[in-house]
Amino acid sequence: MTDTAILDNPLRAGLRLGRAPEPCTMVIFGATGDLTSRKLVPALYNLAREHRLPAGFSVVGFARRDWSDDYFRQELLDGINANSRSGAADPALWESFAQGISYHRSDFTNPEGYASLAERLNQIDEQRGTGGNRVFYLATPPDSYHDIIQNLGTHGLNHAPGNGWTRIIVEKPFGHDLESARALNQQLLSVFSEDQIYRIDHYLGKETVQNILVFRFGNGIFEPIWSRRYVDHVQITVAESIGVEDRGGYYDHSGATRDMIQNHLMQLLSLVAMEPPVAYDANAVRDEKVKVMRAIQPIAPEQLDNCTVRGQYTAGSVAGKPVQGYHSEKGVTPDSHTETYVALKLAIESWRWAGVPFYLRTGKCLPRRVSEIAVQFKAAPLMLFANGPTSDIEANALSIKIQPDEGITLKFNSKVPGQASQIRPVTMDFRYGTSFGVASPEAYERLLLDCLVGDGTLFTRRDEVETSWALLTPLLQAWQAGQGQPPQPYEAGTWGPHAADELLARDGRAWRRL
Ligand code: BG6
Repeated sequence: MTDTAILDNPLRAGLRLGRAPEPCTMVIFGATGDLTSRKLVPALYNLAREHRLPAGFSVVGFARRDWSDDYFRQELLDGINANSRSGAADPALWESFAQGISYHRSDFTNPEGYASLAERLNQIDEQRGTGGNRVFYLATPPDSYHDIIQNLGTHGLNHAPGNGWTRIIVEKPFGHDLESARALNQQLLSVFSEDQIYRIDHYLGKETVQNILVFRFGNGIFEPIWSRRYVDHVQITVAESIGVEDRGGYYDHSGATRDMIQNHLMQLLSLVAMEPPVAYDANAVRDEKVKVMRAIQPIAPEQLDNCTVRGQYTAGSVAGKPVQGYHSEKGVTPDSHTETYVALKLAIESWRWAGVPFYLRTGKCLPRRVSEIAVQFKAAPLMLFANGPTSDIEANALSIKIQPDEGITLKFNSKVPGQASQIRPVTMDFRYGTSFGVASPEAYERLLLDCLVGDGTLFTRRDEVETSWALLTPLLQAWQAGQGQPPQPYEAGTWGPHAADELLARDGRAWRRL
């Protein structure tokens, strides 16, 4: 296909491969933390392995600890060896990758640290040909964001020298509620422009999540049935088998709604429910996502117990291993009311979705790690076969499996071979592994590369983040004020509190068994 033909088709233009970033330097604030060695640097290493990083690409780790360049490099190498999807690092590749890595020790509040960072970046430009192009990555706890953003502005690091560009990636959590998210946006926008800001939500980098748009808008047969006319309801599940691990201190101030719903599940919902964008570009896609979020009806205080369920895990066992209760986790207050499970029933007030409930659930210490979006269709209008020897006639369901076993499954009814007219549901399956036979890149690989080439489509825009918080903040405040049922206990290793089953049972529905 010619380039012109690719560009004629916006979906293909946006998805095309072989995008080459310009030489640049990435400064990682909080580089001694877990995220850098577990996710960011393994992702960068894999991009290097696939020849997707530009020549001269450099990394500067900015953090408080008294580390040397060599010590920092060794930590990153250990991180790659332990966490990279491609296994242990290749010595020759690591050698050349490591030449571009250095460590810059400074407190985040210390202006001198930024002045010397500016000098160091200029040196790197000269020595490694990075042309003044910079990405700043905020991988610190959010309480340091303010100082870092302010200091970057004060030291002129928000503008690149010469013809270079400057971008900033902001990790989640992006705010704690609407007010703090707005304040963070205001501060960011007083120093950077919106097109320099990349708010990361790693779910958008997952291969299966990107495929939602291709599935919906790259095929002609699904969109016509993707509405209230044919869809009975939608279920979005992000189940985790892990507990809060060593993040009890953070999690206890967050809870499942802030940690997962506000970002990851709202993103999944908006991709599944949005209207077709006019183009596959950052603004057109995000415009449609925001429109869907705006159309979600806020949950009124008197609807709390009808539309929401919170849970908190108690001691139990997951996959045969004993698990302590949430209250015994390190960093968690013993009488904490933080939810480790939440289920919501949301209504989207649009012509496409009026009357179609969207049920969302996510939780920790559930029996399995499994995430999926299931579109449950209405039953056939006339049950010709209902009086036969079987009444096992189920409505069609289409499930998009986000992880693991990535793929898409359509369930429909079929005649069981034989004389009797027996009917049984069967499935038509698409599996990434079988169809493509190549390992999908990690979400961070895709997102880091997108930022390096200046494509913000898979990052969240200011209004998206604020709209999501605007919907959830009143809910969080009502819970905080003691309204609605408190979190219900559920034993670790079960599918959450019974009240979550009742939430659907009241509507004559049930959660899918995963
Ligand atoms: C993070 C949350 O954003 O997503 C974690 O803070 C959660 O609590 C994680 O475990 C889940 O991500 P994934 O990619 O493992 O589904």
